Amino acid sequence: MKRILPIVIFVFSVLGAFVYVGYVVTDIAGGGVATAGAEGVSPEAGETIFWGKGKCYTCHSIGDEGSAIRCPNLGENNIAALLSLPVGVRAEERAVLRSEQTGKHFSATDYLVESLADPGAYVVDGFKNEMPYVYKPPIGLTPDEVKAVILYLQSQGGEVDVAQIKLPDVILAAQKEEAEPWQPYFAGDPENGMELFFDEESNAGCSRCHTVAENGGKVGPELTTVSGTRSPQYIVESIIQPSEVIASGFESLLIVSKDGRYLTGIKKGEDEQSISLMLDTGEIQKVSKDEIEEVAPQETSVMPSGFADDLTMTEFHDVLAFVLTLDGEQPIGGSGDEDEEDDDEEESADEDSEDVEDDSGDDEESDDEESDDEESDDEDENGRDKGEEG
Ligand code: HEC
Ligand code: HEC
Repeated sequence: MKRILPIVIFVFSVLGAFVYVGYVVTDIAGGGVATAGAEGVSPEAGETIFWGKGKCYTCHSIGDEGSAIRCPNLGENNIAALLSLPVGVRAEERAVLRSEQTGKHFSATDYLVESLADPGAYVVDGFKNEMPYVYKPPIGLTPDEVKAVILYLQSQGGEVDVAQIKLPDVILAAQKEEAEPWQPYFAGDPENGMELFFDEESNAGCSRCHTVAENGGKVGPELTTVSGTRSPQYIVESIIQPSEVIASGFESLLIVSKDGRYLTGIKKGEDEQSISLMLDTGEIQKVSKDEIEEVAPQETSVMPSGFADDLTMTEFHDVLAFVLTLDGEQPIGGSGDEDEEDDDEEESADEDSEDVEDDSGDDEESDDEESDDEESDDEDENGRDKGEEG
């Protein structure tokens, strides 16, 4: 217990210092590298960005393409109501709504621009304000890349017209702000971090709950590409203070039964008769509604909050270094040199991790559906019927 305070204070002061240094350095150096990913401003370039550098595919599918189910599907699909329209068409309806809400005229394209420029300005019903600023690091699209992506979105049922795209200053200016890549204070050893991640007997044992490259548990979100979409600061915070921001679909629920039992877990399904809860062990427990006295959403994460205490300084930085390599662009557990984009994601992590699988197989549900049931709490709106690899 005595260790925790100094570590927490230390980690946060280091973070603070680095954010600050980041700003200062950028000021002096006039910004970091801005290498353009795709060439030209066209729907095709936008498509490449959507399924590549933009990382949009880690959250969104387009119709039947893609396997992401936790955020709005942007294509034509069989989900209820407005969300079933492809985003080019849907944008027109949202534009009407936004014009009413703001008193300013919104065209469909203005809506698409806004949804990238300021994702929190209008949050799609049933979802959380979780969309990152794609023009800031770590995704860091250039203004032209943002335009290309918008053309691609327009091409989903709408009119493709580059002249209508008026990027706001926040996007145009973002490039100048781009900081040096953030570096943790201690470099950390990603290979050792990987071992800790997958070693369930270690202080970390993250794979009890998290999958990386198809190895690991399903209690928490898959982390195979997490650092491609999340900033290092967010990742550090997720590890040290998991309850600060809770990833959608992973909110925890407390069920109190009529006979006085307490059960905490993540809701994985509900029907007329029962609620299915995934416990922090990965086990799925079905609780019959007749037995339930009370259901209370919790503000604390199912992810344990003690890692700042349980991990040594070195272990923490090693695990962090490993998680920071998970950007979907380099081989998992590779030597850490990041070259060209390549598709090595499929590569399995390491022999070690093979015996680590922990789907407590005592429940059919958790085995049968594999990828589907991971986030099945996300209601049908999210198109989970499409959760298949595509
Ligand atoms: C980390 C997950 C995540 C990533 C990555 C992401 N988005 Fe989103 N996006 C969301 C969420 C959650 C919403 C719904 C909440 C909201 O409206 O802000 C959303 C909403 C949207 C909408 C509005 C949809 C509607 O029905 O009106 C558009 C358009 C969109 N995203 C485009 C993109 C594009 C293009 C990219 C890649 C450059 C991208 N998103 C990357 C999570 C993400
Ligand atoms: C007992 C299960 C459990 C363990 C063990 C666990 N986590 Fe988590 N983790 C979760 C859950 C559940 C969430 C989603 C809720 C939240 O955001 O807090 C989460 C969220 C995260 C996130 C945020 C992901 C996102 O997309 O927002 C990161 C990063 C993360 N965990 C890293 C780790 C690391 C690194 C370890 C090991 C040191 C670890 N976790 C151990 C359950 C766990």
